[in-house]
Amino acid sequence: MSATEAAPTSATRLAGRMSRLGTESAFEVLARARALEATGRAVIHLEIGEPDFTTPAHIIDAAAEALRSGFTHYVPAPGLPELREAVTAWLSRTGRLEATPDRVIVTPGAKPIMWYLMLATCEEGDEIIYPDPGFPMYESIADFVGARAVPLPLREENGFSPDPAELASLITPRTRLLVLNSPHNPCGSAMSKQDCEAVAELAMRHDLLVLSDEVYWAVRYSGSHASVLDVPGMTERTVLLDGWSKTWAMTGWRLGLGVFPPALVEPVTRLVINSVSCTSAFSQRAAIAALTGPGEPVEQMVAEFRKRRDVIVDGLNAIDGITCVRPEGAFYVFPSVKSFGIPSKRIEEHLLDRAGVAALSGTAFGQHGEGYLRFSYANSVEAIRQALDAVAAVLPELEATT
Ligand SMILES: Cc1ncc(COP(=O)(O)O)c(C=O)c1O
Repeated sequence: MSATEAAPTSATRLAGRMSRLGTESAFEVLARARALEATGRAVIHLEIGEPDFTTPAHIIDAAAEALRSGFTHYVPAPGLPELREAVTAWLSRTGRLEATPDRVIVTPGAKPIMWYLMLATCEEGDEIIYPDPGFPMYESIADFVGARAVPLPLREENGFSPDPAELASLITPRTRLLVLNSPHNPCGSAMSKQDCEAVAELAMRHDLLVLSDEVYWAVRYSGSHASVLDVPGMTERTVLLDGWSKTWAMTGWRLGLGVFPPALVEPVTRLVINSVSCTSAFSQRAAIAALTGPGEPVEQMVAEFRKRRDVIVDGLNAIDGITCVRPEGAFYVFPSVKSFGIPSKRIEEHLLDRAGVAALSGTAFGQHGEGYLRFSYANSVEAIRQALDAVAAVLPELEATT
């Protein structure tokens, strides 16, 4: 009997909390696209958020060498000491943060940092403010731990950055955690120094903990990166989330990191011990090679992303009914399709069915994503051009059917 045929039985009933756990629609759309491909249809994949580049060779070599030299066992829960040190040296060298290695915790991917932080600090009924549109896991994990997830709308007229006045209006005595993400998935926006100062001032005034998700730090096209961590007084209340997935095209290696205020290191380490014991030892050796090795592969990847960004933004803006802001970072565009007056989800389905283009409805990133689509440009310029032609060809059908 297959899993889908299984008869319901009370032995497999789910705990109530499972109804509060969401998912990432990118994986669902990918599954639908793969099903279409299995029927012989060609699909251009612009739905999944991972670099289409291969991990740089020196990093792969370091992992192979680590496997041969015995990094095949458990290692300390918060990470190899030499990796935690390499992380702080890298953060210092890149001008981001001065921190001691004992504040760094390495995890299998960056997602566990969100889990561990919310589990360790948020009580039932505490409020977690998160960006909407935003990475869907913030809301899902917040709900799952029993907190109240409070969306902070990111509006196009505000450059898809948090509006401090709107943020201030959402803060209550129950607000515990503020989640920020810059550069931003899905909008491609980046917070300015002034944005960071205004938000940091609110966090300090209301004694909030902050999660600063900077996983797209390296993928930035103009200006310099700004973080709330640059604002004096913020390091003691901010957790920096970063990782290797996007910067070094290492999504499958599962490597992420958090830099925590000292008081959170021991509780989060206990959560690591209870859940995964540690992060893969040979992956961690590869992570050191990434941090200390040549920067050219990352620079080349970002230069290629910049080229693709311009192709897709210009191409989308040339299509009737679409307007698209030029993103400052990450590898996503978030064009408005409001002029069609049709739910974004229907447009997503239409593009997949009729154009063979897999994209995501903006609502996959929260209610404030209605009226938008997300295209990931982690695909070749040629594929992007083909996708643009196909989208332009099928959108008029959509108008005709309403
Ligand atoms: C904003 C954001 N944070 C975190 C992650 C998770 O990264 P990882 O694959 O390292 O868990 C992603 C992945 O898409 C992301 O978009």
